Amino acid sequence: MRKKIVAGNWKCNTTVSEGVALAKQVSDLVVSKGAKDVVVVLGTPFTHLTSVAAIIDKSRVSVAAQNCAAEPKGAFTGEVSVSMIQSTGATFIIIGHSERRDYYHETSEILNKKVALTLAQGLTPIYCCGEALAIREAGTENAFVQNQLEETIFNLSAEDFGKIVIAYEPIWAIGTGRTASSQQAQDMLAFIRGLIAKKYNQSIADNCSILYGGSCSPANANELFGQPDIDGGLIGGASLKADDFLAIINAY
Ligand code: PGA
Repeated sequence: MRKKIVAGNWKCNTTVSEGVALAKQVSDLVVSKGAKDVVVVLGTPFTHLTSVAAIIDKSRVSVAAQNCAAEPKGAFTGEVSVSMIQSTGATFIIIGHSERRDYYHETSEILNKKVALTLAQGLTPIYCCGEALAIREAGTENAFVQNQLEETIFNLSAEDFGKIVIAYEPIWAIGTGRTASSQQAQDMLAFIRGLIAKKYNQSIADNCSILYGGSCSPANANELFGQPDIDGGLIGGASLKADDFLAIINAY
């Protein structure tokens, strides 16, 4: 049975003290009221990881970095390596978010290295993919997403592929309030699962958690998570409010 996962992506928001307070609030709510079968992840800024990992209930909540260095260590000023992230207590790393691809020019080659380093260190990549509005309007979103997967994660061994989480986030739905319809999201996730079955096998495809992200909110999470191939969400804006985030966690 594949896992249901609700992962918050705080992006570049909150100071350390604000983040710690938010994480504590979320952790307490998850412990007292959260659905027990949902894996809850908090994707915080690097600066918060250690403090957040120290105050959450780790049996119910995990911590994610939002990025990592593409090299294991060395003279790369300003970069944060996977082993540094691991040393904070974080266990997930969000890799290939469209904001990283678009604003920081992260190519498939770079993302490929980041995924490999994350897996080698025993952490779980949440690998993001998704198309821009022009591609959706041209009707070529499936080919585009297939290409992203082929260039970055379809080179993994079956064993490694079995450890990753995928998040499909159409760029036109991120932070815009314009969510993909549950049918659009379901269609793409079923397409991705079909590609995994073809490339690897049906059991790996059936066990891979594939999340939807993009303006997911308490108002639409229930319908999205009700789709057969949607295994949870990567949540931006709504993850900054503990009550909204809990409502999404409990939307199954
Ligand atoms: P959003 O962001 O929920 O604010 O649209 C999702 C994401 O970028 O991960």
